[in-house]
Amino acid sequence: MCGIVGYIGYEKAKEILLNGLEKLEYRGYDSAGIATRDDNDVTVTKAKGRIAELRKTSDNDIDGQVGIGHTRWATHGVPSYENSHPHQSTSERFTLVHNGVIENYEELRDTYIPEVTLVSDTDTEVIVQLVEYFANQGMNTEEAFTKVISLLHGSYALGLLDSEDNDTIYVAKNKSPLLVGIGDNFNVIASDALAMIQVTSEYKELKDQEIVLVQRDKVTIKDLAGNIVERDSYTAEIDASDAEKGVYDHYMLKEIHEQPAAMRRIIQAYQDEQGNLSMDSNIIEDVKKADRIYIIAAGTSYHAGLVGKEYLEKWAGVPTEVHVSSEFVYNMPLLSERPLFIYISQSGETADSRAVLVETTKLGHRSLTITNVAGSTLSREADHTLLLHAGPEIAVASTKAYTAQIAVLAILAQVVAEARGRETGVDLLPELAKVTAAIETIVDDAPKMEQIAKDFLETARNAFFIGRALDYHVSLEGALKLKEISYIQAEGFAGGELKHGTIALIEDGTPVIALATQSHVNLSIRGNVNEVVARGARPSIISMEGLEKEGDTYVIPHVHELLTPLVSVITLQLISYYAALHRDLDVDKPRNLAKSVTVE
Ligand code: F6R
Repeated sequence: MCGIVGYIGYEKAKEILLNGLEKLEYRGYDSAGIATRDDNDVTVTKAKGRIAELRKTSDNDIDGQVGIGHTRWATHGVPSYENSHPHQSTSERFTLVHNGVIENYEELRDTYIPEVTLVSDTDTEVIVQLVEYFANQGMNTEEAFTKVISLLHGSYALGLLDSEDNDTIYVAKNKSPLLVGIGDNFNVIASDALAMIQVTSEYKELKDQEIVLVQRDKVTIKDLAGNIVERDSYTAEIDASDAEKGVYDHYMLKEIHEQPAAMRRIIQAYQDEQGNLSMDSNIIEDVKKADRIYIIAAGTSYHAGLVGKEYLEKWAGVPTEVHVSSEFVYNMPLLSERPLFIYISQSGETADSRAVLVETTKLGHRSLTITNVAGSTLSREADHTLLLHAGPEIAVASTKAYTAQIAVLAILAQVVAEARGRETGVDLLPELAKVTAAIETIVDDAPKMEQIAKDFLETARNAFFIGRALDYHVSLEGALKLKEISYIQAEGFAGGELKHGTIALIEDGTPVIALATQSHVNLSIRGNVNEVVARGARPSIISMEGLEKEGDTYVIPHVHELLTPLVSVITLQLISYYAALHRDLDVDKPRNLAKSVTVE
């Protein structure tokens, strides 16, 4: 959701900015723009739609060696030329890009700049006009920028150019992500290290409400009182090829295929030198002390949490609740005496989940974030972090993060069980190795999933996914995958629940994809399939070796029954991918969606 890049150095900024914005496309956006400053002037180019449009629009002769760029996902005001960033102050002295939402922008506008005519509907334009207002009062740019930062309420990542200063990008953030990249004779800013990984892998984290002056040969970080803050840089462990599609047509397909490798990395990352599963003992202690775990997450991460609950309860023996973050924050249940909060988030930036973390931290409760992004907001603000090691996930539809989240939750439950002397009856390491092999088998069978997508979904308007027990959780994820990229209305249901109302929607030819990987409910889910078939549904059953029956559409290799979500979901990810592909849709960037949802 929205992305920022910036460059200051001796090269032509335009190309570096456009390349950086392309790397941020995956976050979701509906317009984009850049501003570059040459010796005389700041040139702003903006376009509604894709970066390719912006490339076409931007003048090849733009020459500046300083610039900022932005992809916008509309929050205040529709996607349009006027509302896209960068925004300029009335005199065009100041130019600004902004991610986030300013809560008090109307109040600030009415207090300080009631006379100023605004040309957009955005909160961002108010910020840039405020900088000009304070500069006109006699402050220098750093003072004016600092003053504005002290007035803003809400979330922001900001990059500001001053047309009277060719040597500085003024930068600040609050709640929204922003990094400074350190180069040789140049420096950059980016919402995500991936955007600038082609030019540098050295980054400095920024903390909320710091004022950062980014210049060609130095980066100065100050607190709001003007004191210099020293900060070491770190090397982002991203391979430049992670940002490329390689031999795949889409990032989503690449990421589905990367799941066996991600599993292997996870198994390795959570093993000690003796080859036993292990993790930070402070995390194990916090889980042991908890009388209840609250898993907080959104979307696919929430679905992974539903599976993780089974491990934490069955293996680690801790009662666990799973909550959708956007609901929990406004409707908190009665908490237990010693809760532990586990935040699951691929991006580590989801505003809904962060809002809960802020509340639970205020209440003094311990927290653990499970995320794919080291240094992300949820990781920095929680007491502990467990990394997913899945590698950057770029397609909007989450695939490898889901399986990585489930694997890490399984490992967490297992190490806590061991620390408590609880017998789980599962030798997790070899079982995860089997899971990895099973995922490989399914990925190799991709043409069969393509056939299922063609047979069952090519012309479907709606579809149902059903399952019982763990298969129910996976059906929710299967339905989400299908709807978000193919726009087929899809719902996941508990097999036994359909007949309590939803079965009324089944008509001749309605596709129903049923999961049958759990022995204790194998007969009952098949009974549910018979019920929908009797009402005209076209069933497709995905079962597991040992539980299969004649006529099943696909049989996944046998794995431990509690680990089937890691395997059965691969079939649904591939089926969704091919369903969208055959409808000629933009698989990696589905409409209306953003990869990292940084507004509540
Ligand atoms: C679906 C999807 C979303 C995310 C959700 C939470 O494919 O990607 O449902 O799972 O927006 O995002 P994170 O995990 O980054 O907190």
